[in-house]
Amino acid sequence: MSKPLRKVVFPVAGLGTRFLPATKVVAKEMLPVLDRPLIQYAVDEAVDAGADTLIFVTNRYKHAIADYFDKAYELEAKLEKKGKDELLALVQGTLPRNVRAIFVTQPEALGLGHAVLCAKPVVGDEPFGVVLPDDLIWNKGHGALRQMAELGDAEQAGVIAVEEVPHDQTDKYGIVDAERIDERSARIRFMVEKPKPADAPSNLAVVGRYVLPGRIFQLLEQTTPGAGGEIQLTDAIEALLKEQGKVLAYRFEGTRFDCGNKAGLVRATMHMAMQDPTLAPTVREFVSQL
Ligand code: UTP
Repeated sequence: MSKPLRKVVFPVAGLGTRFLPATKVVAKEMLPVLDRPLIQYAVDEAVDAGADTLIFVTNRYKHAIADYFDKAYELEAKLEKKGKDELLALVQGTLPRNVRAIFVTQPEALGLGHAVLCAKPVVGDEPFGVVLPDDLIWNKGHGALRQMAELGDAEQAGVIAVEEVPHDQTDKYGIVDAERIDERSARIRFMVEKPKPADAPSNLAVVGRYVLPGRIFQLLEQTTPGAGGEIQLTDAIEALLKEQGKVLAYRFEGTRFDCGNKAGLVRATMHMAMQDPTLAPTVREFVSQL
């Protein structure tokens, strides 16, 4: 068994403008897919990878995320009194007992790279995971992060999750050029941020899961703001690649839903509903009527 990935960072300090006006007051990560908020799916995936320390990089508007993982005394007391044990277990089970949540603030939304850098004092020098909760990845077996952690540990290298996207959509993603190792993994040669389809070296797009060495923090500190004045994680990964000569791209086993946009959130909701035998017939009937 490989070493578990103990620390996982959740950058959740973005503005979530694509879900306005809901995100005026509801953090994007608290939007539900059925009965669980996006952040719960992300946390479950991190715990599956062996994490015992979860670091949420938040902003001053996102107290709901901390509240969600905190104890809800009144509610728990009421459920207990009424003997609603199953509901009580759900409320108490948002975070396993052996796992701690740490909250750090990103004072200004200066980019994903900057958000990850805010976690440096908690992570220190060890390999860690990064999970973007708006990419919900569903898999029957172990989650994408666990698969990546095992590869990263075996190869002693950083690992970036990638997925094949339609060729006409390369300008929405970071795209990698990589040399195939096997069916799922490849050695990255270089990365390009949002290339036009004609200029894209491949259709392998970077999605929201990373396993990175602690060294990335020093490289992030040296990264100057790029596109949109933001500190880009991709730039620091490029620097890591130049320095260490080896960063892997990994095509995870599972289905990704981009819940950062409305269509993706609807897809994820339909998919999860179809996994639930109590909901699937109703959904199927409703869709056929549409
Ligand atoms: P997005 O690009 O999806 O931006 O960020 P956003 O603000 O969340 O959403 P839109 O585009 O306005 O609708 C990708 C991830 O990086 C985090 C976000 O919270 C999200 O998980 N992020 C981005 C930060 O934590 N800080 C930043 O400064 C930027």
